[in-house]
Amino acid sequence: LEKNKRIPIIWLHFQECTCCSESFIRSSHPIVADILLDKVSLDYTETLQAAAGHQAEAIKEQTMKESYGEYILMVEGSVPMEEDGVYCCIGGKSAQQILEEAAAGAKAIVAWGNCACAGCVQSANPNPTGARSIKSLIKNKPIVNVQGCPPIAEVMAGTVVHLLAFGRIPQLDALGRPKAFYSRRVHDTCYRRPYYDAGLFVESFDDENAKRGYCLYKMGCRGPTTYNSCGIIRWNNGTSFPIQSGHGCIGCSEEGFWDQSPFYKR
Ligand code: SF4
Ligand code: SF4
Ligand code: F3S
Repeated sequence: LEKNKRIPIIWLHFQECTCCSESFIRSSHPIVADILLDKVSLDYTETLQAAAGHQAEAIKEQTMKESYGEYILMVEGSVPMEEDGVYCCIGGKSAQQILEEAAAGAKAIVAWGNCACAGCVQSANPNPTGARSIKSLIKNKPIVNVQGCPPIAEVMAGTVVHLLAFGRIPQLDALGRPKAFYSRRVHDTCYRRPYYDAGLFVESFDDENAKRGYCLYKMGCRGPTTYNSCGIIRWNNGTSFPIQSGHGCIGCSEEGFWDQSPFYKR
């Protein structure tokens, strides 16, 4: 990795909340500054770049031309297809146009988070903007779906490091997610699992069983159907994850989690 040339990266933002970027910059293993400053050339990203306006667009055009077939395209956000894409335009172009132009010369594409991987909350029924995932629009490039809302920082950084170190995308599961991080259910690595197996459950958020830290399955926890590394890597430098803070998993790394049964019932 030390000898590899810095790979150009174009990081696009469409319909999203920017928390995937927020997550990424908090990676501590590896430290994200080490990746951004030493290993890649992050030529374009609306969130982190100093340039703006015509200058920023010119840099992107230059990378697309001079590094055709070599750069990695990273996308955060879904693409609106209704009304000719009017719901998300940057520099006078629709998100669809921007995506297709940048994808043409990309060596591979990384879709960050549930917005880019599957549409996320913007595509919630009745999906007024016609929000679509990247994989539904680009069919001729290798695509890595780094799922979650957002994905775990170290999972994002680990995916980037794999691309840089091996020059190819990692092994993927059936939904296009890196197997290294998405092959096990949250339920399989959850420290509350012994309570599940023993039939000890929280019955309401303020009961004695909640204070004892029993299993959250009856509170709607979706850990048994959710594939992610939260129980192993955790969040905020390994500090915690939703279940550890007393709330069930809402399945944020799975397609359609927004349109499934309500998170809370009266
Ligand atoms: Fe935000 Fe979630 Fe979309 Fe990431 S996947 S940009 S965290 S809404
Ligand atoms: Fe499984 Fe959720 Fe219970 Fe953990 S809290 S054991 S993930 S059902
Ligand atoms: Fe998301 Fe569930 Fe992890 S809600 S952050 S996959 S515990």
